[in-house]
Parts: sequence; structure tokens; C-alpha cells
Amino acid sequence: MGSKTTVIRSVPSNDPPIRGQARVLANSSDGNGRRIRLAVADWPGSIPGQFVMVGAGARASVPRHDPLLPRPMAVFRDLGPVEGGAASECDVELLYRVVGRGTTLLSEAAPGDTLSIVGPLGEGFPLGDLGTGGGPALLVGGGTGIASLYELARALVHAGRNVVVLLGARSREDLIGRVDFEALGLELVCTTEDGTEGQPGLVTEPLAARLSTHGATASVFAVGPTPMMRACAILAAQHDAACLVSLENPMACGFGVCLGCAVPRAEGGFSLVCRAGPVFDACEIDWEGLS
Ligand SMILES: Cc1cc2nc3c(=O)[nH]c(=O)nc-3n(C[C@H](O)[C@H](O)[C@H](O)COP(=O)(O)OP(=O)(O)OC[C@H]3O[C@@H](n4cnc5c(N)ncnc54)[C@H](O)[C@@H]3O)c2cc1C
Ligand code: FES
Repeated sequence: MGSKTTVIRSVPSNDPPIRGQARVLANSSDGNGRRIRLAVADWPGSIPGQFVMVGAGARASVPRHDPLLPRPMAVFRDLGPVEGGAASECDVELLYRVVGRGTTLLSEAAPGDTLSIVGPLGEGFPLGDLGTGGGPALLVGGGTGIASLYELARALVHAGRNVVVLLGARSREDLIGRVDFEALGLELVCTTEDGTEGQPGLVTEPLAARLSTHGATASVFAVGPTPMMRACAILAAQHDAACLVSLENPMACGFGVCLGCAVPRAEGGFSLVCRAGPVFDACEIDWEGLS
């Protein structure tokens, strides 16, 4: 797959991540997912696609070692100063699904509880021009990958780009975060495998149709299950379109120490998702070697 992507960071990256406690402002359901809003002191702001490590088990009522390791979560919405909060506090929202112990504990956090947080971490999406043709930005989200795309969509809309968001899920209730994308006033295409919302089938089907129309002028940004991202990468390459993906490998530390998040590179060797990514040019990844 040939690369057409020039990676340009949108803002200087020299603001260090913060490590501290976040106060839970709200924690509510969103279909089959949940959203939690955190008041984070001294939050430096994030680049779309960056993530935080949340220590869901660090609340007063739960022993620190339960679970021992924090969990990576994309910054879903960076909402600015907390209404009525301390001057330095920012309102950071995460969108998540309960899959195991860490996310179960996260779902049990109540307003006023505190969680440990480190972030923002990783290399986010570049917001400079991608591709050469000036065609649409096609944002493809599946599962909890949807959470990594909202701030990207908002930034691209703000920059005057033609943005199409394609969200795919098993069922209507799995289309988490959809209302927020709708509020951005962009073109939103939903697909569900059971046909309960939007187009029945896989999200790669409307992607293929858009790529057939726009070809190499389009830019693809894909976040979701590995098979979905692999299919997006192949489709983009077939149309010579730029394609960025954001990988969601399990992580233990989030900042390059444990080496637990290594992914194979197309050219050989490995990259750490938490340091070099989570956003990568799709051409950089050895998709066959990725589990
Ligand atoms: C950069 C990044 C951003 C992420 N953003 C989000 C997000 O915004 N919202 C969200 O809900 N999730 C997100 N995830 C995934 C999230 O971190 C995991 O779902 C979470 O760590 C699971 O913790 P747990 O203790 O609940 O589950 P565990 O008990 O650790 O695992 C439960 C089950 O989920 C599987 N699992 C655990 N982690 C992952 C993973 N990363 N990918 C696939 N399967 C996994 C395990 O193999 C196991 O079968 C992100 C991951 C990364 C690396
Ligand atoms: S998560 Fe530890 S090195 Fe990446």
C-alpha cells in the first residue's frame, strides 16, 4: 500500500501530560455504552485521537490494586472549563463499553468520586491536509472506536473540510455517541449489521461507495475493530486514497515502558502503539501480523 499521508501535528506537542486525580461529574448510559465526564485539573488540552490512562480502581472505596493497571480510553469530547468548577479544571468526556473489571469499576463511579488519570497521551490525528485532491474526509468508526473520532470530526468541520462520518455497529443501541455527531451538522451515515438503524450491513460498504466516487481525493480515518480497520486500509489502498487508523491494543503503562503494546510494522520491526501511535498511516502496519 503506497502512502500519501503527510503527518502534521495540529498544535505544538510540548505540553506535558498531567498525572493526577479527576473528579467524576457525571456517568450515564448511552445505548449499550456509557459516557463519563471528568473534571481534570490543569488539563493541557488534547489533539484529536489522543487518549488517557484511567485508574478506575483508585477510588476510596476500592483497593488501589483492583485492578492494578489503568485502562486506556480515547478522549471523546474535550469540553473546556468546568461550569462552576475551579479555574484550572477542564471537562473531559470519555465514551466506553463495559467489557471487564476495569470498565465495570468505571461504570460504578458516581459523581464526586475521584479517579486517577494520566494524559493526554500518544500521537493524535494530524489536522493538516491529507491526500492531495481536497476530497472528503471519510471518518469510519466501529464499536468503541467511535469515541476517537468526535474531536477529529469537530476540528475538520471547523477547518471547513467536507466531512462524512460513517458509523458501524451490530445494532442500533451500539451506535454510541451518535447524537453528538448529529449535532455537528455533518453528513452522518449509520450502518447496523441487524438492520435496526440506517443501512443494513457493514460500514465498509458505504465507505467503498464513497471511495468509488471520490477515489484518491478522499482521506480515510478509521478506528474500530482490527478487521474493520484492515478492510478500510485495503479499500483506501485500492483507490490510492490516504488512510489513517487508530489502534486500540491492550496497554499496561501507556507511555512506552512496558513494551506490551508493540505492533508489527510493514517494513519489519515493531512500533509501540502508546508512543508512536495510536494513530498510524495504514501503510505502516503489517496487518497480517496484527492479531
Ligand atoms: C488508545 C486506546 C483507546 C481506547 N479507547 C477506548 C474508548 O474510548 N472506549 C472504550 O470503551 N474502550 C477504549 N479502549 C479499549 C479499552 O481500553 C478496553 O476495553 C479496556 O482496557 C478493557 O478493560 P477492562 O478491565 O474492562 O477489561 P479486561 O478485563 O481487561 O478485558 C475484558 C475483555 O476485553 C478484552 N480487551 C481488553 N482490552 C482490549 C482492547 N484494547 N481491545 C480489544 N479487546 C480488549 C480482553 O481481551 C477481554 O476479553 C481503548 C484502547 C486503547 C489502546
Ligand atoms: S503500553 Fe506500555 S509500552 Fe505501550
